[in-house]
Amino acid sequence: MKTARFDVPPAAGSVSAAVKTMTAIVHDEYGTVPEDVLRLAEVNKPTIQDNEVLLRVHAASVDRGTWHIMAGLPYPIRVAGFGLRKPKYLNPGRSLAGTVEAVGTEVTCFAPGNEVFGICDGSFAEYVRVGTDKLAPKPSNLSFAEAAAVPVSALTALQGVRDHGRVKAGQQVLIVGASGGVGSFTVQIAKAFGAEVTGVCSTAKADLLEAIGADHVIDYTSEDFADGAHRYDVILDIGGNASLARLRRALTPKGRLVLVGGETDGRWLGGTDRTLRALLLSPFVNQKLGTFIASENASDLIVLRELIESGQIKPVIDRTYPLSDVAGAIRYLVGGSARGKTVITV
Ligand SMILES: NC(=O)c1ccc[n+]([C@@H]2O[C@H](COP(=O)([O-])OP(=O)(O)OC[C@H]3O[C@@H](n4cnc5c(N)ncnc54)[C@H](OP(=O)(O)O)[C@@H]3O)[C@@H](O)[C@H]2O)c1
Repeated sequence: MKTARFDVPPAAGSVSAAVKTMTAIVHDEYGTVPEDVLRLAEVNKPTIQDNEVLLRVHAASVDRGTWHIMAGLPYPIRVAGFGLRKPKYLNPGRSLAGTVEAVGTEVTCFAPGNEVFGICDGSFAEYVRVGTDKLAPKPSNLSFAEAAAVPVSALTALQGVRDHGRVKAGQQVLIVGASGGVGSFTVQIAKAFGAEVTGVCSTAKADLLEAIGADHVIDYTSEDFADGAHRYDVILDIGGNASLARLRRALTPKGRLVLVGGETDGRWLGGTDRTLRALLLSPFVNQKLGTFIASENASDLIVLRELIESGQIKPVIDRTYPLSDVAGAIRYLVGGSARGKTVITV
């Protein structure tokens, strides 16, 4: 990756005309090849509004959403606020952990020196500005690298299990795509809610699911979770894009299906056609078929911090990359080999 020294225009409020500079990943056009569209550069350090916090970032993490924001695909993501023709934010990083450097005049809940984790736009940088509504004190038993793995992926897992799956103790829960970033948290959170958990993954990652507490593991290369042998009260579908018919076949007659994700090549719909069909069908069948987009909020970060500090969940970190090689981290993740989370140290 090239390193350039230049000033980035103060786009979308992400940087100011401050004289101090920092090192950051800069992303000024959409593209599917990380090395083509991401570069390391010296840019202006952000300045904060009265209700914001300036953070010194120690670690960030990548997830499938990072690739989507980088590529601007599927296209609806551009309309959703990431920039219609070109990226709106400095870079596609979002999850992070760091230390509070300064606070705005209206901020009372954080002070310089606090160690925090959360979500912002452009987290692949030495400094970021963050709203307090997406920030919480870092779990005391995690390193910055571990804490940076948590926000987007674990919030999604928590809301999938608790709010949309409504998982209760003793229920049979199937997690498809259990070995990735969202999946590895989902397995642990469903266990923390008292469920009997079956995780679906590829052969090479079966040991990971056992290590994080899955009661049963289905290797999708040799077994079919919808073979009729078992039915599940709740299915969280995070990867693989199984058909609705297969997912419903594996669900109890009044079970809940939560469509969390699943990668497709679709540039326009990106899997939303399956989701739309599920939402249209749900009112006419006894099973509950739904989906959601994770809500990024501080109160759920605090719930996660409590689950982590009580030892009920722990981030699974696969590889760690330096800030200069965010492109390599994204390439590794989308290559499909990652087990759990891939982290960037800053
Ligand atoms: N709804 C939301 O708000 C929300 C929020 C965050 C993420 N997401 C979505 O959730 C999905 C996962 O994101 P992530 O960051 O966790 O990605 P990730 O870390 O790359 O994990 C992807 C998972 O998909 C699994 N997978 C691939 N092919 C499969 C198949 N045929 N059958 C079963 N599992 C298969 C992989 O398992 P193996 O490697 O073992 O095959 C891996 O565990 C993405 O589509 C993302 O966009 C949604």
